[in-house]
Amino acid sequence: MTQSLSFARHGDKRNSDFFNEYLVKLLEERDRSGLTDNIHEIDAMMITVDPGHSIRYIAELALMTPYHYLVTLESESHWTHILRIDMNSPDFLVREVKDPNTRGIFRSLNEVYPIGQHKPNSRYMGEILRVSDLHDVVQCQQDREFRFFSQDEVRKLELPGNLAIGKPSPYTHNIVAYMERPKDQIRTYALGISSIRDDVQEAYLAAKEKQAELGIDKLILPIDHLATRVYSQNREVAILEYLSLSSYYYWGSYDITDQNSSTNVTKSVHHSDEMRSPAKVFTANNTPYFVNHLEKLPSPTETFVRNYGPRLHHLAIAVSDETLPQDQHGMDNIDFVVSQIASQGRNFLLDVIGSKEDGLKQIFSSASEHSSLIIEYVQRFGDFQGFFTKDNVAELTRAAGVEEELIQLQAASKA
Ligand SMILES: [Fe+2]
Repeated sequence: MTQSLSFARHGDKRNSDFFNEYLVKLLEERDRSGLTDNIHEIDAMMITVDPGHSIRYIAELALMTPYHYLVTLESESHWTHILRIDMNSPDFLVREVKDPNTRGIFRSLNEVYPIGQHKPNSRYMGEILRVSDLHDVVQCQQDREFRFFSQDEVRKLELPGNLAIGKPSPYTHNIVAYMERPKDQIRTYALGISSIRDDVQEAYLAAKEKQAELGIDKLILPIDHLATRVYSQNREVAILEYLSLSSYYYWGSYDITDQNSSTNVTKSVHHSDEMRSPAKVFTANNTPYFVNHLEKLPSPTETFVRNYGPRLHHLAIAVSDETLPQDQHGMDNIDFVVSQIASQGRNFLLDVIGSKEDGLKQIFSSASEHSSLIIEYVQRFGDFQGFFTKDNVAELTRAAGVEEELIQLQAASKA
C-alpha cells in the first residue's frame, strides 16, 4: 500500500491546525480505502476556447510546446481537438464551442468576473485522471460526498462518455474527471465523429516546421506543473480537496512575503517525474482583499482571482538541461528558446530570471489571447528538485500582476 504521508516536506509557510489534522486523516483514509492505488497519473487536461480560436491556439501550442495534433472529435455543438506528445505524458483536449451563444456551466464560471466575462468560453476546465477501476473510484468518492455529473449530463455537455466527471470545485472552479484505462492501452475518448481536419492539420504542420527551423523542438519538454490561483481563504481547502480527489501528496508551501502570497505544491505519489504527471500548484494571497486598505500590501494574486475568478493561471513547460552537440547557441537552453519564440512575435512579461547557481531559471509569457493562459518555461540545472526560488516567484508574481492591470484597463475601456 502506498504511504501518502511518507514524502519529505518542503517550505516555510505555516498551515492551520485544521489543515495539519485533516491532511493526515484524509491521506491515511485515502490510502486505506485503496483510492491512492486505484487513481494514477493525470491522463489529459481539458480546455475550452471561444468560437474561431481553436486552430490558432493549436498552432500556438504546436510552436511553444511539444504537443502534436492527433484528431478532432465533432459533436453537435463542439469541436474537440486531441493533442498528444506520447503515451508517457498527458494529452490536451482543446474544445471549441461552435456557436458563441451556447450557454452552460463552464461559461457561467467566467461570466460573473469582470475580465473573465470578456472571453466567456475560454477557460481551463480541469484534468482527467487515469484509474484502474472506474466504478470503485466513483462509488468511493460519492461516499466521501463528492458529486458527479450524471451520464445524461455528460452527454448533454458533449464530453467523452467514457469519463466520470466531478462537479466543478467550489474553491478552484476546476473539474476532476476519471477515465478507466489499463497502463498499456491507448487513450480513447468516446465522443462524436473523429476526423483529421485539413485546416487544423495545416496550421499544426506549419507551426511544427517553424519550431524545428528555430532549433527549439528538441529543447522543449512536457508539462512540469499546472498553477491554479484561488482566493486567500481557500488555500488550505483547495489543497486538501485536490488531494482527496487525486493520488497526489502535499509537497509543501512557501511564503512569498514580498508579494503577500504563497505557492503551494502537490505531486503524484506514483511518479516523481513531473513529465509523467505534472505537479499541481496552488497560489493564494496571504490576506483577503478587504483588509488591503488597512495593510497596504501588494496583492496581485487576490486581484487576479477577483478579475478572472479562481482558475488555472499558467502551464509550466520544462526546458531541457542537456546541451546537444548541434546546439551551439552559446546561452542556456531556456534563454535560447525564449529568444527564438520572441522572434515570432510572442511577448514575455519579464526577462528570464534565476541562474544556474540558484538551480533554475524561469520566465512567464504574456497570456494567450485564445485561452488566457500564461506559459511558463522552467529549466532546472543538475539535480535541482524545487519548483522555484523565492526571489523568482516574487518577480514572476509581480510581472503577471502588472500585465493584469493593463488587461483590466483595456477591459474597462471596452465596457
Ligand atoms: Fe509556475
